[in-house]
Order: sequence, then C-alpha cells, then structure tokens
Amino acid sequence: MTPSSTWSKLIFGFSCASTVLAASYRVQDTYIGHSFLDGFTFQNIADPTHGRVNYVDAGTAARENLTFASSTNFIARSDFTTVLNPSGPGRNSVRLMSKKQYRIGTVLIANLHHMPEGCGTWPAFWTVGDNWPNNGEIDILEGVNNVGNNQGTLHTSPGCTMPGSRSQTGTALQNDCNVWINSNTGCGVSFGSRSFGPSFNANGGGWYAMELTANFVKIWFWARGTSVPSDVSGGSATINTNNWGTPVAYFPNTSCNINSHFGPQNIIINLTFCGDWAGSVYGSNNCPSTCNDFVNNNPGAFQNAYFDFLSLRAYAVENPIWDMAEGSQNPMSPHAI
Ligand SMILES: *[C@@H]1O[C@H](CO)[C@@H](O)[C@H](O)[C@H]1NC(C)=O
Ligand SMILES: *[C@@H]1O[C@H](CO)[C@@H](O)[C@H](O)[C@H]1NC(C)=O
Ligand SMILES: *[C@@H]1O[C@H](CO)[C@@H](O)[C@H](O)[C@H]1NC(C)=O
Repeated sequence: MTPSSTWSKLIFGFSCASTVLAASYRVQDTYIGHSFLDGFTFQNIADPTHGRVNYVDAGTAARENLTFASSTNFIARSDFTTVLNPSGPGRNSVRLMSKKQYRIGTVLIANLHHMPEGCGTWPAFWTVGDNWPNNGEIDILEGVNNVGNNQGTLHTSPGCTMPGSRSQTGTALQNDCNVWINSNTGCGVSFGSRSFGPSFNANGGGWYAMELTANFVKIWFWARGTSVPSDVSGGSATINTNNWGTPVAYFPNTSCNINSHFGPQNIIINLTFCGDWAGSVYGSNNCPSTCNDFVNNNPGAFQNAYFDFLSLRAYAVENPIWDMAEGSQNPMSPHAI
C-alpha cells in the first residue's frame, strides 16, 4: 500500500464517521465500586412520592451498611432488620444523586448484577433535570412490588407526545409524557422478560443503556447471557449505538422538542416503599396485608431489596475535528477513495 492510498483510506474512514456522528461516543465517567461514593451525594430528603421510607445521609448509610463498596461492586440497600413504629419514620434506605449533570449527547450504560425486590418496594434508576418537570425526567429502570417487567418512561412539561407506532421492541403504555395528566403516569414503555425484579435477579441481572440526543431518547436492555453488543459488555472506552439494534423503548422527537424539554440530567438511584405507585397498586399485586403494615412489620422481607452495580459508565458524543474539515463534502463521495 502506498502512503497516498493509506491517506485516502483514512480520509474515507473519517468522512464516513461524520455521517454516523451521533452514534459514536467516548467514555467520560466510570463508576465502579468506591467511585459511586465519590461521584454521588446522599439525599436525605422527604420522599416526594410519599413512600414509607426514611432516606438517610452518607454517615448513617455507611454505619448501617446500607451502602457498601468493594473494588468490583457497589451495593445500595434498605434496612432489613428493624421493625418500625407505625407512627415513626419509614424504613431506612438511600437516594443517591450524581454530582455531575449529563447533557443531550450522552449515553449511560449500567451493568447491574441485582436490583431491589420484594412486596412494597419501588426501586428506580433514572435521570432528572433541574426545576422538575421543566427539564425532563427519564426513568430507565423502574417498577413496583415484584410485578411484571421494567417500565422505561419520560416525564415532561406539557407539549411532548409520542407517535403511536414507532420502532421499538417494547409496548407503549401511554403516549403523552405530560406530568400534569393522569396523575403523572408519563409516556411509558413496558419491557420484556427478565427486565425487572425477581426474574432479573435470578438471571444475574444485565445491562441497561440510555441514549439522549436531540432527535430521540432510546433505552436498551440486555439480560445477562443473551447476545450483548461487545462494546457494552466490554465496557469499551468508545461505543457506537448504531450497532445495538432496535431499542426496547424509542422516544423520537416527532412531536416532542427534546432540546426544549430536556436539560442537563442528574442520575438518581433510589429505593422507596409504598407511596404513590407501589402503595396504590399493592392490593392488586398479590402482596400480603397492607403495604405500610407489611413494610413496618417484616424487615426480613427486604433482605433482597438491594442494588448491586458492577459498573455505570457515562459517555459523551464524539465531536471530531474532521467533521468541520470534511463537513462540506458529500461524506461518502468517491473522491475520497
Ligand atoms: C424514585 O424514583 C422514581 C423514578 O421515577 C420517582 O418517580 C420517585 O419520585 C423517586 N422517589 C423519590 C423519593 O425520590
Ligand atoms: C455489608 O454489606 C456487604 C454487601 O452486602 C456484605 O458483604 C458485608 O458482609 C456487610 N458487612 C457487614 C458488617 O454486615
Ligand atoms: C428533531 O431533531 C432534529 C435534530 O436536532 C431537528 O433538526 C428537528 O427539527 C427536530 N424535529 C422536531 C419535530 O422537533
């Protein structure tokens, strides 16, 4: 190969790259083990969703072993030993928020070994912008009471709806993302098997990925042991979402201006009990007693109410310099070969 043909092939490669620009990302932050404790703050706030929970601070969480980090794992759990006084505070648990915010042009990939399960539990792994709901909320992993599958959901200010028919493997539940209708149901998509709770855990968990661009939000899930893109399973420094296939949840910008509905997002990991969602459907989810009574009196039932993260990586879209240099050319034109 002559030097000049090598150069030509490089130009060709670069030019093609610019056409798939939004699909190529580079890692910005890697959270593994102890770095979760460095990168997240503990929010010991009152539960805005009225749960039977007491969110504790970092010192209490460490003392009670509600958070635990090794070099390979990060565990976040609720108390599972205390019988609660019905007129006192709720069950101790944690709500963690990333110190950093992530903008449009981000991919998050979580490799989870385990997630909280049990009657009364309402765990979530999600992102939210300032001044809710004006900068949007993206629920990546969420559900209640061990029931069924994951729901991926957007919650927004009015004026963001999803097309009824779109390219996703999950099942759309409601297409208006507006938080002010139907008690903040949001525009949710129901996921497939092994995506939530006991069946997720029995299978050793899996990978959740979320891509936020100006054109769409996409969420993928791969159960452990299934065919997972190698850049996802390998924790690669660069990833290309174009190779990941049809997402489980697809939220295009057809009738939702993503730039105006989604500001910079904080990542939140929380585990609450009962409250607005888990409490309201508790009786129909095959769970014993009433939700608050069960949570108060059965600490042992929450032994498996924990997240076990193997890793969480945040990627930012690549904005290579050759995009400007080559931008005015037809990216795939033969002149480059
Ligand atoms: C926990 O996460 C869910 C995610 O959708 C959110 O709706 C709920 O408000 C959160 N609960 C608390 C107490 O932060
Ligand atoms: C704290 O939690 C971790 C993870 O669940 C566990 O391995 C460890 O034994 C616990 N430590 C104590 C003192 O209970
Ligand atoms: C969707 O996003 C693209 C890229 O930012 C933009 O050009 C287009 O106008 C958007 N469409 C709508 C309906 O917001």
